[in-house]
Formats: sequence, C-alpha cells, structure tokens
Amino acid sequence: MFRILVLHYSQSGQLDKIARSVLAPLEAQDAVEVVWQNLQPERAYPFPWPFWQFFDTFPECVYLDPAPIKPLTIDTDQEFDLVIIAYQVWFLSPSLPIVAFLQSADARKLLANKPVVTLIGCRNMWLSAQDKMQAMLARLGAKLADNVVLQDQGPPWATFITTPRWVLTGKKDGFWGIFPPAGITEHEIISANRFGRALALALPLLQSGHLGPFLTGLGAVKVNPGYIAGERLAHRSFRVWGRLLRAMGPAGSPGRRAVLALYIIFLVALILTVLPLGILLRALIRPFMRSKLAQQVKQLEAPSGSSTERLGTI
Ligand SMILES: Cc1cc2nc3c(=O)[nH]c(=O)nc-3n(C[C@H](O)[C@H](O)[C@H](O)COP(=O)(O)O)c2cc1C
Repeated sequence: MFRILVLHYSQSGQLDKIARSVLAPLEAQDAVEVVWQNLQPERAYPFPWPFWQFFDTFPECVYLDPAPIKPLTIDTDQEFDLVIIAYQVWFLSPSLPIVAFLQSADARKLLANKPVVTLIGCRNMWLSAQDKMQAMLARLGAKLADNVVLQDQGPPWATFITTPRWVLTGKKDGFWGIFPPAGITEHEIISANRFGRALALALPLLQSGHLGPFLTGLGAVKVNPGYIAGERLAHRSFRVWGRLLRAMGPAGSPGRRAVLALYIIFLVALILTVLPLGILLRALIRPFMRSKLAQQVKQLEAPSGSSTERLGTI
C-alpha cells in the first residue's frame, strides 16, 4: 500500500477543494491510501476578517511566529510515502496554522526524509512564502519534489481589489463589469486533478524512492518576471514595519494599533506612488536584464517548472 498524507487548512474551503481535486485520482487507486490531516488553530481565525485584525496579523506572519494549533488527530507514528502540504499565503508567508505545524515535533517525525509536494492556492504573491516553505522543509530533512500554484482569476490590478474585498467582507462576486469574481476559477480547480493523475502515473517511480519532480510539463507554476522585484520590495517593507510593530507589543495592543494605522497610510501611499513608478522603471530596464531575469524565473519555478508539453497527454 502506498500511503499519502495530506496536510491542509482552509478558511473559505477553497484550498480544501483544490486538494480534493488533486487527490481524487489517487484516492481512486486500490494501491493508494490517502490520510487527511486538517490543521486547526486552537483559536480559529475569523473569515471574513475584521479590518484591524487582518492587518495586525502581518508581523507574526512575516516573522513566522504562529499561535498554537490543536493536536493532530492522526497517529503520528505512521509511515507515509508522500506528503502533500496544501497551503495558502498570508502576507507573503505560509499561513500561520501551516507554520505552526512545520515548527512542531510532529512535523519532524512525519516529514523527515519524505518527498513533499506543496500545493498553493493564493492571490498571486507566493514567491517569498515558498522560499520560507523550502527553508522549513530543508530544516526538517524533507525533500521538495514538486510545487503547484493556483492563483486568483483576473489581472493583478483586479485581484488587488477582489481578493482583499473577499477576505475582508466575504463578498466573492464580480462587480462593475470589470472586476471578476474573487478566488480561483472552478475550471482551474477541476483541472488541477491532472496533478493527481500524474502522481498516480508516477507511483512506480515514487515507490522506487525517486524524489521527483513528477509534475513537469503540466503548467504547475508560472512566475511573471515583472513581479519578482515588487514582491521582494514588499517583503522588505513588511520586515521593517513588522519588527517595529512587534516591538510595540502583542497583536491587538493599543500602541501597536497606532503604528499600524501609520503603516496602512504608508502602504497606500507606497502603492499609489512607488509601485507604479517601480513598474515603469523595471519595464525600462528589463531588456538589459533579460538573461538574469530568465535565470531567476527558472529558479523560482523549480522544481516543477512552467512548461506545458504534457498537457492533454495524461
Ligand atoms: C491574512 C491574509 C493575508 C493574505 N496574504 C496574501 C499574500 O500575501 N499573497 C497572496 O497571494 N494571497 C494572500 N492572501 C490570499 C490567500 O492566500 C488565499 O487565497 C485566500 O485567503 C483564500 O484561502 P482559503 O482557502 O483559506 O479560503 C491572504 C489572505 C489572508 C486571509
């Protein structure tokens, strides 16, 4: 029996749906057993998020300082042959319940020396989060075999509005004729089962101890070179302000609220001024940086890559 552990957490249910879609072809195999472990915070995070609590969470997200999760419900002495970690991005970092798990002794027990497939469902900024995920997996002795990323529908200027509107109000519908519905399209979620089909085909390889990747050629990830620098800049700003906010006290404390208000004003000013200027500047210098950017993109898209030659063949 080939045993797969799926570690997952989702607020709206979107990421759980993605994980179910990917795992369905594997669950249909007689020789495969899939064990689901839902990671639950001791104190549930709200959805939709109240405005202040949403922003007040970013310092702990960026500094990987999670609140505790409930004990796992599976028997952690079991051996698994493959682990799937389905996670969403919170403030350019893996979401806090996932981080809490990865920092636990259970994670070391379950993940050491195991091939891991990460499955991300987010707006469109996941590069720093996956850097952090890779560092945590390496520390646990796990081997990242593949990374699959599904992103919210619509262009970034639209999801910049629709994703926060969804997580802050719960409203997911499209509006004004120009903004698409928030979240990942149903079609994307359904067609994510190609990754499960590919893993099912790769079972002999997995059973022989091959460490992947198994999902190349299926359009598993796509990095837009135009967004790399912007995300790095945003992450640096989060770290600076995050340190300051954490020095003001724990989440929810009044001193922290005052600095947070300042930060939100700074953020809006940054988005309205520096960000468009940066995009323009980078578009101007991009022709001179083509090979460096191509190399960066290749690295960030590893291990599964963005090529699509196997699409329609499995
Ligand atoms: C607190 C918070 C911060 C988020 N930050 C990011 C982010 O930095 N990058 C991103 O692409 N999406 C971000 N998102 C969107 C989530 O990754 C995810 O798509 C959405 O919350 C739905 O996930 P669910 O399956 O938990 O409902 C954020 C969502 C929340 C709630």
